[in-house]
Amino acid sequence: MKVTKICCIGAGYVGGPTMAVIAKKNPNIKVTIVDINEERIAAWNDKDLSKLPIYEPGLAEIVEETRGKNLFFTTAIDEAIAESEMIFISVNTPTKTYGKGKGMAADLKFVELCARNIADVATTDKIVVEKSTLPVRTAQAIKSILHNTGSDVKFEILSNPEFLAEGTAIEDLLDPDRVLIGGESKDAIESLANVYGSWVPQERILRTNVWSSELSKLTANAFLAQRISSINAISELCEHTEANVNEVAKAIGMDSRIGSKFLNASIGFGGSCFQKDILNLVYIARSYGLNQVADYWEQVIILNDHQKRRFSDNLISTLYNTVSGKKIAMLGWAFKKDTNDTRESAAIYVADHLLNEQANIAVYDPKVNDKKVQNDLNYLDTRTKEENADLVTSFDDPYETTKDAHAIAIMTEWDEFKTYDWKKIYSQMKKPAFIFDGRNILDKTEMEAIGFEYSSIGK
Ligand code: NAD
Ligand code: UGA
Repeated sequence: MKVTKICCIGAGYVGGPTMAVIAKKNPNIKVTIVDINEERIAAWNDKDLSKLPIYEPGLAEIVEETRGKNLFFTTAIDEAIAESEMIFISVNTPTKTYGKGKGMAADLKFVELCARNIADVATTDKIVVEKSTLPVRTAQAIKSILHNTGSDVKFEILSNPEFLAEGTAIEDLLDPDRVLIGGESKDAIESLANVYGSWVPQERILRTNVWSSELSKLTANAFLAQRISSINAISELCEHTEANVNEVAKAIGMDSRIGSKFLNASIGFGGSCFQKDILNLVYIARSYGLNQVADYWEQVIILNDHQKRRFSDNLISTLYNTVSGKKIAMLGWAFKKDTNDTRESAAIYVADHLLNEQANIAVYDPKVNDKKVQNDLNYLDTRTKEENADLVTSFDDPYETTKDAHAIAIMTEWDEFKTYDWKKIYSQMKKPAFIFDGRNILDKTEMEAIGFEYSSIGK
């Protein structure tokens, strides 16, 4: 099938950047991104590109180049589905918060709604592409909904998981390690391969069966998260043995079989996907009775929770076992640098723990506003909105944030944190002035020379 019009359902962190790049690289294809969230669509259409709902380096430039030419954002979902030959499903697949599989399984209600929407509206043949991360064998459910419409419209279902990382999404999309397409119909697979073929070399476009493609996505995230939990486990051992986790990471990373990437010890991984996808993998394994497999992967999450907890425990015990009434300045709230995404950010859990100990928290993040910080804490439902608003204040300026603070906790590895006037920050803080560097981005010797009591991860 020759694709001239694409519709993407879901204008989020994946749908937005991915379709922007597809539109840029395929000027002859009309790409329409739809969403039920009117506010989000309005923000995507905002003339002021700094108001786009997602911050990603390089994204605004591509949106500026393509929007209104062959890239469109709209809430007119049915129209976009009806006119397109290829429909990407790129909606959220969060962990279930109710019923069977609560806290473990992926909630597929949004995906199912999309499938039903497509089934209701389609009058011409469609290729439906699973872009969301889905449990293995989800394509079967989508197929069953689409093939039972009673009409003679033909649907082909492909799995095309996304591997971009936030903060580097545009780079990752423009130069992907691989594009994975799983499907049964060769024609449908080649139609999608042609879309990517505009800029991705054919040898990097992998064709597999649908189930391998679905499972590869969960497996990739599980392996990546496992590396972080592995190095974080070693970081705790380093703290007890005078080994230095950076030196250990460098030494093992030079073994080409291990590789040097993804070995940064930290306060624990965050983000919307690692935890959700591993929990989902664990759930699937258990549902097949594979308890050893499930326990193995579950440990990655257990270790990650431990790493977040021990960061805040260490902060409290170093501050003479109490943070009650003390000002703790948190630098960074996003789950990593170069994104405004805060989903599952370690900062939220560390803050929550410190708030239980009656700390006053000051937050500065270059891309996250107070509303988001408050929403993240309110979502945990640990205390009232009023209490959160009373105890947590966000600032626009790092120097105001850290003024009169008893301690600074570095939660995100934003580059700008390294360039601050740390002498000035020190002079404005309560003494002794503590820094807890959850990202190992500052220089211990330099910080101690200024006068800080400095501690980091795994040293
Ligand atoms: P997101 O929450 O940012 O975006 C999803 C969007 O879908 C929301 O704007 C929501 O309003 C919309 N939506 C939900 N139901 C809808 C419906 N029925 N009709 C129209 N719109 C609907 O999520 P995301 O981060 O873009 O993730 C999407 C999927 O991609 C998930 O499965 C995720 O696991 C996967 N993924 C995410 C990343 C990432 O870095 N965020 C990377 C790879 C894969
Ligand atoms: C991750 C994967 O890297 C992507 O390939 C995948 O497509 C995506 O999940 C997804 O499916 O959503 P993302 O979560 O956006 O991407 O960002 P990462 O760079 O993987 O970072 C995740 C978390 O791990 C962050 O909190 C980061 O700070 C932390 N991290 C990362 C470490 O603590 N140490 C590291 O060495 C690397």
